This record gives sequence, structure tokens and C-alpha cells, in this order.
Amino acid sequence: MDFKHYIAEKLNIEGVDVNTVAGYVEIPPDTTLGDYALPCFFLAKLLRNSPVKIAESLKAQFVTDYVITDVSAVNGYLNFKIDRKGYAAGLLSDIAKSGDKFGASDIGTGKTVCIDYSSINIAKPFHIGHLSTTVIGSALCKIFRFLGYKVVGINHLGDYGTQFGKLIVAYKLWSSREQVIEGRLKELTRIYVKFHEEAKINPALDDEARHYFHLIEQGDKDSNELFGLFKKITLEEVDKIYNLLNVTFDSYAGESFYNDKMAAVVDELKEKNLLKISDGASIVDLEEYGMPPCLILKSDGSSLYATRDIAAAIYRKNTYDFDKCLYVVAYQQNLHFKQFFKVIELMGKSWAKDLIHVAYGMVSLESGAMSTREGKVVLLEDVINKTVEKAKTVIEEKNPTLNDKDKVARAVGTGAVIFGALSNNKIKDIVFSYDRVLSFEGETCPYVQYTITRCFSVLKKTGEPNAFSVPEMCDAEYSVLSELGRFPDVVKSAAEKYEPSFITRYAIDLAQAFSKFYIECKIACEDENTRNFRLAITSAVKTVLINALTLLGIDYIEEM
Ligand code: ARG
Repeated sequence: MDFKHYIAEKLNIEGVDVNTVAGYVEIPPDTTLGDYALPCFFLAKLLRNSPVKIAESLKAQFVTDYVITDVSAVNGYLNFKIDRKGYAAGLLSDIAKSGDKFGASDIGTGKTVCIDYSSINIAKPFHIGHLSTTVIGSALCKIFRFLGYKVVGINHLGDYGTQFGKLIVAYKLWSSREQVIEGRLKELTRIYVKFHEEAKINPALDDEARHYFHLIEQGDKDSNELFGLFKKITLEEVDKIYNLLNVTFDSYAGESFYNDKMAAVVDELKEKNLLKISDGASIVDLEEYGMPPCLILKSDGSSLYATRDIAAAIYRKNTYDFDKCLYVVAYQQNLHFKQFFKVIELMGKSWAKDLIHVAYGMVSLESGAMSTREGKVVLLEDVINKTVEKAKTVIEEKNPTLNDKDKVARAVGTGAVIFGALSNNKIKDIVFSYDRVLSFEGETCPYVQYTITRCFSVLKKTGEPNAFSVPEMCDAEYSVLSELGRFPDVVKSAAEKYEPSFITRYAIDLAQAFSKFYIECKIACEDENTRNFRLAITSAVKTVLINALTLLGIDYIEEM
């Protein structure tokens, strides 16, 4: 049961949305007056009355029930007392009934959210710098879907630019079809790195690269065939990782998809008198807004990253009619997003306000920033393989007779990588360290997965819960119940703040509350009623932890 909503619905304040009221309901720091409180100050203007009077009149109309047993009005606050037993009974039966839907909602029904994430670059290695956007975006997709939204997950592929000319030159000079097919992304990275080394000595290579890029743009058959091969290899390689991470997309429309959609953007910008020529280039002047100009066309007429993003936003609006379009991209690109959002606003599109840059922090190595050109990267695939291997070693040590060891190791290893990447507030910079990712101690995914296996094992040994009436509860029991009851709110705030780390944090809190309960309260106790109550708690924890991990794209296991 979500008390805040329950209270808001019961209050049924005319002219105010239930969600808004629920958003104001808080847990007071001092719970002697009540378990929940509604400060009535936000209603004063609307209801044209003082908060004190409003609180009193709301109290007068309120009908208490078996969950909310008492209401009082004090200094503009409404205080509510909750019957913990009534609450426990309602919550546990709700979780048992809803199962994998517990925490879901229909607040998003009829609304569409586009989420642009991962958005990898063709022929570039998939390294740990791409981990955040991939797992944050994927979790947001799952979270919004859980709340009833229609979600369109988009991989805005970086498949346009002179680097593809460079690759063709490098391929012709230092590689072959066989080598590329054999060596795949590693081979493409090898020749890309070599190109940059050689171009330092021989700048003519850069002219050659530009030439080949033009050929691609002009539809030259051979160049496009090669480019197609690079693209195919990249997508096959990253797909393997997406599969491991439970990441999926609804669209792979990348930058080159907008090649034939940019002329219309340029025309519209001209028509609306927004384009200026500066040093031969076409720009939108943003000085008035304290930003450098947004480059639309270079002097040679070719388009830019921003041009393709403007075309993409318009295309998405026309195609999906989104309520929101999120861009999960590192904060390094803050300016880019601010600029092109502004251009869309200046074009008079009312939906410019629905474009949201979900920025996150950077990942660097202990030795400094990563660089594809210098070949200084940590590949995501290597990180996943290492954590899976480590999980395998730990299993061999602790539980050599376990069934399906490989499957368990995969779930634990990939879970550790995803959970680790979602453990901090997303805007924090991270210095990547193998030691940390490989640590299975403390507030980590293996701990949450282990808690789930504990629940499975208790339920297997002691049995599934039968009917019970809620007994007097100890603190450890009630702590688990209040954690359980928070889940629906946590999911909603994770969506509102675009912050999947709320869910990782929550999973740890619930797992810790359960551990305390597990130690302090004997689940397989003599008294049948208490036993069933505790089994119901155990079963509910299992359900909610699984739901939490599922929203993050992490598999659970029954035994480890
Ligand atoms: N491929 C880009 C990069 O690696 C990220 C693209 C993000 N999405 C977008 N619509 N601009 O920097």
C-alpha cells in the first residue's frame, strides 16, 4: 500500500490532482503526532484560506478507517495515524496479489517517452565510457514502461562523419576483408589508431579520408559497401554485450538516417529567418542567450552533429508524438543540448520544453581519460568477462556442486557490472577500478542476489505462507514492511528524477532490512500464525527485490 496516495485519495481535495497532494504528504521527523503529515500551505492560494483553517476543515470531513485510524490538525498540518497491523495485512496481500506487477502503475497510460541512449559510434570500441548511458537508459526504459508509458528506446548510432573516410583509407592501406572479418572491432580499432599515428607524419592522409567520406555521402557503391561492412560488424559485436546486459532498442535510426531529412530543416530555419552566414558557414546566433552559435552547415555545405539532432528531434516528434524525449548523454555535451534545444524553441516548436538532457558523469581510468585514438580504453566486454570469471571462481570455492554454475556466474557477473554503474547518483564522475567492480562485498548486487536466494531457500524449506492474522510486530519486522511499502514511490521518483540509482539504493536498503529481520526473528518458529506472517514477509521481499532488479535489467537466481 502506498500511504501517501491512499491519504491523498481519501482526502479527495476538489480542484487538486491526487498525485500532487500525494507528493506533498511527508513522513514527519517526529512521529509522535502521526506517521504521515500533510502540510496545507500549498493549498492556501488555491482554496483562498489560511493553512490552519484548511487543515481544520479537511480534518472535519475525513472519515477514518482500519488503516488510517486517527487524524489531527495542528498549525496548518494534518497528521495521520496509521494502524500498522491493518497496513501490514493490506500491503502483504497486495504484494502477493500483484506479484511482478507490484510497484507498477498506469500514470503513464496514453503517454509516450522517447529515450535516446547508448548511441554508440560505428567502428569504435564499446568501452566502459558507454556503460553509464547504456545501463541508465535501459533502466529508464524499463521503469517508464512499468509506469504505463509507451517507451521508444532509440540507439542514435554515430554512423556519419569523416572518421569513416579515415577507416576506408586505413583499410585500403593496412588491412583486408579477411583481417576485418577475423579481427572484427579490434581490427577496426587497430587501423583507426594507426591512421591517427600515420596522419601526424603524413597529413595528406586526412585529405584522402575526406575524399572517401564524400564518396560515402554521394552514394559511391564500393565505399558504401565497406562502410556497411564496418557497421554490420560493430552492431554484431555490441549486440552480444546488449544481450548480456538485457538491453534492447526499438529503433537504430542513427545519424545517417537523417541525411535526407536535413534539407527541410535548413529550409525551415531560413524561412524563419534564423540562419546567418558567418565565415561561409550557416549558423544560428545564440549570443542573446549567452551561448556560442549553433553550427548548422559548414562552409562546404556539409551538416553537423547539431543539424542531425535537430532533424532527429523533429522526426521523433512527428513519428512518435512523444510527451518527453530524453537524451542520456554525458554532461560533456551539455552545451550541445542546450544549443539545439534552444534552436528548436526558436523555430517556434512548443514541444522544445519536452526535450530533456539526462546528463551523467564521466568515467576515467586511474591513468587518466580514455582515448580511442590512442587505444587507451577498457573494453566493456573485458570487464564483463572478468567479473563473470571471478563469480565463477567464487562459486567453485563456495558451492562446487551448484547446478547451472555458468548461468549463475553470468547473472552475478553482469549484475555486478550493471548495479555498480547504477549505484551512484548519475551525475558523479567515476574513476574506473577493477577492484571495485570485482568486489562482491558490501552494498553490491551479489548481496541483493544472495538475499533473494535466501528467501527462496526459506520458502522451500519452511513452506509458502498460509493465511494469518497480523501479530504484534517487532521493529525488525516493521522495518521490512515499511521498506516494502516504499517501493511504488521509489519507482515513481526514479522516473521523475531520471535516477535509476534510487532503485539500486532501495534494493540495498530492503536487503539490509531483511537481513536484520532474518537474524532477529526466527522465521521457522513454533507458532503457526507468526510463522505464516514471517513467511509472507519473506515471500514479499523476494517479489519486490526481483521486481527491483528486473527494472535494472539484472537477473535473479534461485540458488547460489
Ligand atoms: N554518438 C554520440 C557520442 O558518442 C552520442 C549521441 C547521443 N545522442 C544524440 N542524439 N546526440 O558522443
